[in-house]
Amino acid sequence: MSGYDHGMSAPPPPEPIPGARLLFSLDPAVSHLNHGSFGAVPVNVQRAQQRLRDEMEANPLRFFGLSLVDRITHTRRHLAAFLGADPDGTALIGNATTGVAVVLQSLGLRPGDEVLTTDHGYGAVGFSIDRECRRTGATRRILPVPLTATDEQVVEIIRAGLRPGRTKLLVVDQLTSATARLFPVTAIVGTAHANGVPVLVDAAHAPGMLATPVASVGADFWVGNLHKWGYAPRGTAVLVVTPPWRDRIEPLVVSWEQAAGFPGNVEWQATLDYTPWLAAPAGVWTLRSLGVERVRAHNAALASYGQRVLGDALGVAPADLPEPGGPTVAMRIVPLPAGLATTIDAARALRNRIAEELSAEVAVMTWDDRGWLRLCGQVYNAPHEYERLAARLPALLAQC
Ligand SMILES: Cc1ncc(COP(=O)(O)O)c(C=O)c1O
Repeated sequence: MSGYDHGMSAPPPPEPIPGARLLFSLDPAVSHLNHGSFGAVPVNVQRAQQRLRDEMEANPLRFFGLSLVDRITHTRRHLAAFLGADPDGTALIGNATTGVAVVLQSLGLRPGDEVLTTDHGYGAVGFSIDRECRRTGATRRILPVPLTATDEQVVEIIRAGLRPGRTKLLVVDQLTSATARLFPVTAIVGTAHANGVPVLVDAAHAPGMLATPVASVGADFWVGNLHKWGYAPRGTAVLVVTPPWRDRIEPLVVSWEQAAGFPGNVEWQATLDYTPWLAAPAGVWTLRSLGVERVRAHNAALASYGQRVLGDALGVAPADLPEPGGPTVAMRIVPLPAGLATTIDAARALRNRIAEELSAEVAVMTWDDRGWLRLCGQVYNAPHEYERLAARLPALLAQC
């Protein structure tokens, strides 16, 4: 039973999914309110991976023998079907950042070319674009998109920012990390293509959380992490590429499957641990057995509840709490008092203090020169975790 006074602003939290918390090995002394950063792997999926590791260590030569490529191919087909992606255009990769790097270095950028992004993009992806631009003489241009822009306005801002002929790639997030904002990627891709600009959609958070089939987005390149909301072991992500680009994709590391072309040449990276990929279908199975729609609805409603509770505690009016733009988005942000977490270092320091002193794992973001608290909802979370944080956070912030 929740002890929080819901007053006028907070809708009641969702009913818990019975037994779901027990699927995870998370430290019960900590409120884990940041599933979005590194995910959490259910115990049965950890076990599935351990069985694969046992098999590998029992006879490494046999494990890495010919059938491993077939097992990877089988896994790829399974995960692509779950995501609504073309399996022949889907490569398993280690993480979203790797997928971005593969695409960037396959483009053949030249001096004068530009890569267009928005100011909602993920930091490390920005660094990756910057490095490729430095290497090739291209430039990165960042379009500011107001947090409150409607979908139509977002599409228009991006359309107006395209420089046909010069913009060689548009990189947009399907669900942004810093601002937990859903972008209308299908419409954005349509606009970019109408101007002859290819698009890379950074969908790091989409697998497991969003229902949109990858193929329906129409992006030339799409990267998504299974190890966030898909309950897969860390190190499981996909890069999806449309047919015209597949022959141009070059792996970061050339290995024995080079002659196979995409996706095999990107997947096979020599002697690595492939057990996260092989165990990933167990994560999807876990999600399916809980009920994918039920999990999505639960997580989004709980994140929304947490946003209201923390917003109330920090004196933020409900109208000033950013809406993510979709019914299954399980991440929400709350503005922090002015002057807090305005730099990446300050945000990290505040995050660490909240973790150490309040036993709560949250994300603290810096965006648009101010600090934001990012909260997630997941099946292992309960309303009292947000309420407990809300009761204690104002006093900690007052000391900052
Ligand atoms: C939008 C976005 N893109 C990319 C990434 C990078 O994911 P990874 O660390 O798995 O490469 C993240 C991670 O949180 C993200 O939120």
